[in-house]
Amino acid sequence: MEKTKKILYSAVQPTNNLTIGNYLGAIKNWVALQDEYDCFYAIANMHAITVRQNPAELRQKTLALLALYIACGVDPEKCTLYLQSHVPCHAELAWVLNTFTYVGEMERMTQFKDKSSKHADNINMGLMDYPVLMAADILLYQADVVPVGIDQRQHLEITRDIANRFNNIYSPTFTVPEAVYQKVGAKINDLQEPLKKMSKSGENPNGAIFMTDDRDTILRKFKRAVTDSEMLVKYDPENKPGVSNLLSIYSVFSEKTIQQAEADFEGKGYGDFKLAVGEVVADKLAPIQAEQARLLADKKYLDSVLLKGGEAAYKAARRTLSKVYKKIGFYQL
Ligand code: TRP
Repeated sequence: MEKTKKILYSAVQPTNNLTIGNYLGAIKNWVALQDEYDCFYAIANMHAITVRQNPAELRQKTLALLALYIACGVDPEKCTLYLQSHVPCHAELAWVLNTFTYVGEMERMTQFKDKSSKHADNINMGLMDYPVLMAADILLYQADVVPVGIDQRQHLEITRDIANRFNNIYSPTFTVPEAVYQKVGAKINDLQEPLKKMSKSGENPNGAIFMTDDRDTILRKFKRAVTDSEMLVKYDPENKPGVSNLLSIYSVFSEKTIQQAEADFEGKGYGDFKLAVGEVVADKLAPIQAEQARLLADKKYLDSVLLKGGEAAYKAARRTLSKVYKKIGFYQL
């Protein structure tokens, strides 16, 4: 039964606060996929340290993220939920894959170039090697599919290149993964600059709703959201990006169609409209936040999840790594 399911791999870094855009794009997706696939979900703390982190904060954010994912419905009984640093095979395979990856390829990576200019004082080897570690993550589990945001496209392509390169030099060893890019549909934009994607690192903190925002903050941010001077609640992304973005948010959070959402605000002003959008978002987040807080107070449970996940992940990863070591000629006992 288990064996017939395809293997899915995804990971998220325990840095920054997640926005409702991340919730709709990534977290809900993880939940939706956990029945159909044999899922490995990792918290990528080894990737996180390619940018300097505060140790206490990194530890705290790791547990907070784990608790958030579980609170949102990621079920540790259905999928393998684990912490990357708990499975040493990631670092081990990354080392081997380094010898199948060219410096020039890594220098050309868009994200490496972006991050190098943002962190010019710390262009460390790990930052450059980031895509190889990511390839190791995915290939260790023989993943068939990897759901990621479009910003990860180059990383998935290099993963496929590295897998093919290794398979061609030796014999088929790694499954060559397919990337599944998130459907647009529920794309959420910045509340202050509605032509830009809502991002955790946007310039104006009022532009993004974070998963940790309390009710008052949520209502205030929506109240200040940029609209237009027309006083008409109508979906028209080209001419009315602010209002359309708010309608999209309302629609996904209330599980209504855009037409139903428009109908809810016919003849109403922007003040009522923004308040209603804020309320539906706040109502949805409140129980998630409460559950996250409850889980965070139960460290024993969270540790047990990581222990069980780490053991299961290790078993799968070790199998692949042993194959690799055999093929490249590492003498094994
Ligand atoms: N680099 C990814 C991100 O920042 C996180 C990540 C690490 C990942 N390893 C992965 C995603 C493996 C998919 C598969 O979003």
